[in-house]
Amino acid sequence: METALIVFALIVIVGGLFAAISFGLQARRDHRTRSSSAVPTARSEERPSADYDERSGMAGITTIGVAMAFLAIVVTAAYAVYDPFRAADAAERQRAIDVERGAHSFVTYCAACHGMEGQGLVGPNIHLGELAKRHSLRPTDPDERRKLEDLVNKTVTRGRPPVMPAWGLTDGGALNHQQINEITMFVLSDQWSAAAAVAKEYEVKPAAAAPAAGEPEGLAAMRSNACLACHALNGQGATGGPGPDLTGLASRPKIAGVLDTNRENLIRWLTNPLAVKPGTTMPPLPLSDTVREKIADYLLQK
Ligand code: HEC
Ligand code: HEC
Repeated sequence: METALIVFALIVIVGGLFAAISFGLQARRDHRTRSSSAVPTARSEERPSADYDERSGMAGITTIGVAMAFLAIVVTAAYAVYDPFRAADAAERQRAIDVERGAHSFVTYCAACHGMEGQGLVGPNIHLGELAKRHSLRPTDPDERRKLEDLVNKTVTRGRPPVMPAWGLTDGGALNHQQINEITMFVLSDQWSAAAAVAKEYEVKPAAAAPAAGEPEGLAAMRSNACLACHALNGQGATGGPGPDLTGLASRPKIAGVLDTNRENLIRWLTNPLAVKPGTTMPPLPLSDTVREKIADYLLQK
């Protein structure tokens, strides 16, 4: 970044110095020629010849012309050297922006299941080393790294049934190609602490942060079991996520449009959504009976 600018500045300064020195030398030579040609004849002392004036004027113009041409060449050459640096800088800056945006999306859409630092929760650990090991691909090999990139990109786009939802617009999700590329770049960058930093800087509410102190047990259980990765609830969690907003569930007549709203049915729904409503994309989550009861009680309280 800064280096490229410094290199560019140095080249221009050195070029300028060269031009200035050569201009100075030329001027001195001119001066010497002028004094030596000032032969003290009576006539020339009275009035320097018009011929001489013209010659020195011409020499001056030539010198300036040569210096300008030289400067133009130096600046062009300097730019030619600097330009690739600049292009590389621009690419590097763009990459950093993409990774930061990816971190932002990761906190919003993925952290609930994969953990704030990708360490794994409901979904597996997706640190680069772990991913690479599971799929026997070396991130240091450019070809295999591309395969890892492809794997992450396709997994996010298409999801991993039954639990991980599909995010690609092409697969009924909410994220476009560019957003999925950014998430992929973030995952591959392996800069896991960036997610927490981004969450703090932009005040993104992580869908499943550690339960807050004094929080109702049912809400804490929803946080730690990824419910808020797909659902919003009282302004928390995945607003606009794949699942409906669960705020005010108690006053809705039906659960998922098929079951009367009561405790028993809600527990049934949470045990196996597919058995209740074939084709639903709400995944069966591995919950204990106690956890289901706590969540149901929490969601049904008015
Ligand atoms: C509702 C929970 C959930 C959410 C949200 C979720 N995932 Fe997953 N993810 C999973 C589960 C579970 C698996 C393992 C599926 C399997 O292979 O059986 C998985 C698998 C993956 C894998 C493949 C791991 C491997 O070794 O093959 C990647 C990569 C991944 N998720 C990335 C993401 C990203 C990025 C996001 C955010 C856009 C995300 N996930 C959101 C639950 C989730
Ligand atoms: C991977 C995303 C995802 C996860 C994780 C998830 N859900 Fe859902 N949920 C959905 C979708 C999608 C629907 C809508 C299902 C339908 O109508 O077919 C839904 C529907 C529901 C409904 C019915 C809502 C209504 O308006 O009728 C409830 C209640 C519910 N989920 C609770 C939970 C709880 C509690 C958890 C955590 C234990 C959870 N969900 C985890 C995606 C998810």
